[in-house]
Amino acid sequence: MTIEEKLGQLNLPTAGDITTGQANSSDVAKNIQQGKVGSLFNIKSVAKIREVQKIAVENSRLKIPLLFGMDVIHGYETTFPIPLGLSCTWNIQLIEQSARIAAREASADGINWTFSPMVDISRDPRWGRVSEGSGEDPYLGSRIAQAMVKGYQGNDLSLNTTILACVKHFALYGAPEGGRDYNTVDMSRIRMYNDYFPPYKAAVDAGVGTVMASFNEIDGIPATGNKWLLTEVLRNQWKFDGFVVTDYTGIPEMTDHGLGDLQTVSALALNAGMDMDMVGEGFLSTLKKSLDEGKVTMAQIDNSVKLILEAKYDLGLFADPYKYCDENRAKTEIFTQENRTIARKTAAESFVLFKNEKQLLPLKKSGTIALIGPLANNAVNMPGTWSVATKHANAVPLLQGMQAVLKGSAKVLYAKGSNLIEDADYENRATMFGKTLNRDDRTKEVLLAEALEIAGRSDVIVVALGESAEMSGESSSRVHLDIPQTQRELLDALLKTGKPVVLVLFTGRPLVLTEENQKVAAILNVWFPGTEAGYAISDVLFGDINPSGKLTMTFPRSVGQIPVYYSHKNTGRPLKNKNGDFEKFRTNYLDERNEPLFPFGYGLSYTTFTYNNLEISKPKMTAGEKLKVTLTVKNTGNFDGKEVVQLYIRDVVGSVSRPMKELKGFQKILLKKGEEKQVMFEIGIDDLKFYNSDLEFVAEPGNFEVFVGTNSDVSDKIGFELVD
Ligand code: BGC
Repeated sequence: MTIEEKLGQLNLPTAGDITTGQANSSDVAKNIQQGKVGSLFNIKSVAKIREVQKIAVENSRLKIPLLFGMDVIHGYETTFPIPLGLSCTWNIQLIEQSARIAAREASADGINWTFSPMVDISRDPRWGRVSEGSGEDPYLGSRIAQAMVKGYQGNDLSLNTTILACVKHFALYGAPEGGRDYNTVDMSRIRMYNDYFPPYKAAVDAGVGTVMASFNEIDGIPATGNKWLLTEVLRNQWKFDGFVVTDYTGIPEMTDHGLGDLQTVSALALNAGMDMDMVGEGFLSTLKKSLDEGKVTMAQIDNSVKLILEAKYDLGLFADPYKYCDENRAKTEIFTQENRTIARKTAAESFVLFKNEKQLLPLKKSGTIALIGPLANNAVNMPGTWSVATKHANAVPLLQGMQAVLKGSAKVLYAKGSNLIEDADYENRATMFGKTLNRDDRTKEVLLAEALEIAGRSDVIVVALGESAEMSGESSSRVHLDIPQTQRELLDALLKTGKPVVLVLFTGRPLVLTEENQKVAAILNVWFPGTEAGYAISDVLFGDINPSGKLTMTFPRSVGQIPVYYSHKNTGRPLKNKNGDFEKFRTNYLDERNEPLFPFGYGLSYTTFTYNNLEISKPKMTAGEKLKVTLTVKNTGNFDGKEVVQLYIRDVVGSVSRPMKELKGFQKILLKKGEEKQVMFEIGIDDLKFYNSDLEFVAEPGNFEVFVGTNSDVSDKIGFELVD
């Protein structure tokens, strides 16, 4: 290979606007012919991908096939709930299956590489990208990371139904200062290793083929050029053997970070252990010069080329560059009824019931229902952020879903009630990429009057409020985490009618719902449910499915509490009183309580569960032993239901301070009405390990407490001792 051809393999541009039948005349085509492109992304359809692949394998000198990447984040055309919602299912099989279906559909459409899973732990809901991850917890996040990698890559990458996964954004991208996207991250190593690294490592341990570096800096050096991160941690400590890609223009952005000109930062990235340059073209345009000047070595370039060629080889592209280009599969395997049925079921499991006073839900399938709100009859926002392959018109709005599920047994009246946001400029920013909410030009008084009129003729009001899809996601940070004011005014007016009100909340992040929780009888949080949204929401509203989602991110009472998360430390001055009342010179606020509105793990069901007989097999354990923790869970209500039984451990005394509780196990069980089951967890030495101040992964002898319950705010516990 010439040096130019080698650097071409390290280059990943976007496809631009390649049109079928004219791919040959595009600029990208010329670059491919000249061996300047190794992989391409954001190109959709077998016809286009076949054409472009043909240029690479027939018209370039070395005939090396291309990788075709895409952000297949939560499904392909069949779109599943946003990842934050998906994580709230706590159903690892379903999550793996969603990735499997995404891989099948994407691969049927020519794609062989997805930029997923996104596993950035985040404890700051101001950050818009919390919608793309699995929440705040390293243990749950790790389980989900593994499941997603398995779902995409399967056991055999050479099949034409499996695709390369890419864990991102390595690392710590979810902890920007102030929750502002791309902002500075500054974190202790002990926190990185214990709380933020585990899901990336879990993906590496699960065999993820590629890793994407994050935009942020770590210890003052952007991840893209951070040798400690990319070589010491990822390669040496974790033994990652795939290739690393930058995020979009990650290399040239290091110039804005203040690390030097394009040549300098490109050499910095290569020397740090970066293999592929997404869009930045720093490698392509400067590495030859740096090589001539002795700033990088040929051995480093060769190593990156080798890793990328190996990935293509593992995918079977050298054997058959068109293995993902089967028009038949594209016609029959995408957005199938079977996939949609699974997406509908998965969406229903992701919903979190916050409140259900007097068992207002499930609603009866009779009478007259007023369906009101800016999100009640909108298709394009239902898939949520990062749904690039979705045909948005395919998505099912709530109104349509309700009518289908009710089949005429109840009457549904609809009114928009308000715009998303009163400020039209803000609404524009919040509805980009064609995700319009069809702004209504009528005044807010007229919209409200129309809503009140249909409310007056109804037995119950279902009000669909919240964020639009693009109010979360990339570059969608917020400082006010409430439902926009105009929608809250609508809600207040509807509450004043005295009719029962159910709030169906759309959101891509935890919001502050303190007032809504006081005023509204029933609140169902549905995130962004994907293409089957309207059906799935109606399945739950009318009781065909009992909600079982549990929060994976804490909902604060006030923005000022952020960052707020369940696995916090005790501090030296915890509150002494159990009520959470203010105490001077103790850790608390003058004007707000410490505890959140809804804790991690929280979510109600239409039925109730009781927890009894918590027992542990032995009071002491040695490193080689396993303890059994058992309890009984009983369904004491009137519906069959699923419950997520959660096990938390506290390491009471350590060489460093330890969290008050850490999730270490969970089981999602189905209990019929009246049924009781024994649930058993095993605790082994690995569940007790953590990184100490020397960053050694150790379990320290001493006392531990085990909590088992329905959410992280559980106080029932049992103790044991780890002995030498
Ligand atoms: C995002 C990544 C994404 C990439 C390619 C970036 O802006 O941060 O998550 O994979 O674009 O679309």
